[in-house]
Formats: sequence, structure tokens, C-alpha cells
Amino acid sequence: MKKKKKLLIVGNWKMYVSTMADAQVIARSISNRLKKYTNHTVVLCPAFLHIPLLSKGKRGPLLWGAQNVSAFDEGARTGEVGAGELADVGVSHVIVGHSERRALGETDADIARKVARARSYGIIPIVCIGESVRDTHGEYLRFIRDQLLGSLKGIPKKDLKHVVVAYEPVWAIGKKDTEAITPRDLHEMVIYIRKVLSDAFGVKEAQDVRVIYGGSVTSNNALSIVHEGEVSGLLIGRDSVKPDNLLAIVSLLS
Ligand code: PGA
Repeated sequence: MKKKKKLLIVGNWKMYVSTMADAQVIARSISNRLKKYTNHTVVLCPAFLHIPLLSKGKRGPLLWGAQNVSAFDEGARTGEVGAGELADVGVSHVIVGHSERRALGETDADIARKVARARSYGIIPIVCIGESVRDTHGEYLRFIRDQLLGSLKGIPKKDLKHVVVAYEPVWAIGKKDTEAITPRDLHEMVIYIRKVLSDAFGVKEAQDVRVIYGGSVTSNNALSIVHEGEVSGLLIGRDSVKPDNLLAIVSLLS
């Protein structure tokens, strides 16, 4: 039988969990039940404040990620959280350039700096890209290419294998699962993303990049998105703070 590929499943908790107590209950429930499904890598990205308490102590089957990181290194940067601080509390992954942050004014250049900061501390950046609308002339493809190359500007080729690209069409985030992308359209986009990467960085380097999908993933569509869309994992928002729903997705893929 063909060996199943190891997927990367990332839970983006956004600002859904307001107390430390709730965060602990959710994380414990996911961690306990995940012990049965060790074939995939599951990364949870809680609020900054909750990370150290969740990540400390015995390491369970979970890895910890952050939802953002400063584009700057240490110093006089009021209100920023640096990659060094994240690495110190056990963060292995960080989401950068999520559309909800781009909507607040983050540019591709900011994101490229965040990627560099993350890499300098050995953290894997999960670089989000995605168009807001799809036109019939294919303009969105040019938009995706510019966003992708702009967000990875300056990254050394050898570092690409430590980068995850999360394709998250903005029009598919936070919707009903029936409104998520079709696996066929996703597959086309994954091929396109790899082509852009391969033209810019080389065929081998492009192959090493993990491309994952996010936007209204539930247990109803996860299987077809992964298998027909041919992505290497998922970025899950709402359903990642509901242990039953997240575990349903993981078990289907296991
Ligand atoms: P969603 O969010 O699963 O709630 O659509 C995905 C995301 O924004 O990363």
C-alpha cells in the first residue's frame, strides 16, 4: 500500500479564545486525543499571551506556533513581539501575512522581513497569500505571483525548504464549507504556485516548499481538498478551537 504522506495541520486560533483557562482546556483536549494520530504534524497557534503556558512542560504531540511576529529584531519597538522571544517560549512555526493582517496595512516587504526574522531564529514561517476576488481574465494569477515573490524576497534558496506557503483565498475565509474552493481549482493554483517558485528559485527548491490550503476547511471538505487539491496540509481557523471538529479532520486524514 502507498505510504500516506505526512501532512502539516495548522490551527489558527485568531482571537477566538479569550481566557487562559479556556485555552488550556481546548489544548489539553486536542493533545490527549491526538496521541492516537501521530502520523501528521499538528501546530496550534494561540494568542501570544497564551503560548508560554501552553507550550511549557511535557511535550505532547503538539507543536506551537504564533499568529504574527515582528519584522524587527530586539530593541526599542514598543508593542512588538520578536522572533527571539517566540523561539524562547518554544514556538516552531509562525503565520505571517495572514489576510486579516494584510488588511491592517501589512505589505509584502513587511512580510519578507518577518520571514527573515523567523528564519534567523530557526522558526518556520507559514507565508499566507491569497486573492480577494477571482476575475475571468486571470488577473488574480498575476496578483498571486507578485504577492508570493514579494513576500519571499531576499530569502536564500537553501531556506526555502523551511518555508510553508499557505494559499488562502480571501473570499473563502470564514465562510460555509460549501463556499470553500473546489479541489480542482485548488489543484490548478497549487501547480501555478509551484511554477512561480520554480521559475524564481529553481525546480528542486520549489519542490521542497510545502503548499497548504486555508479557508473554510471542515470535516466535510478536508479529504477532497487534501487529496484532489494535492496540498501538503491545511490551515484551519474556526474549527481549530473546537476539539471535536479538529480531531474529526485529523482522523479522516489519518
Ligand atoms: P477559517 O479561517 O477556517 O475560519 O475559514 C482560516 C484562516 O483564516 O486561516
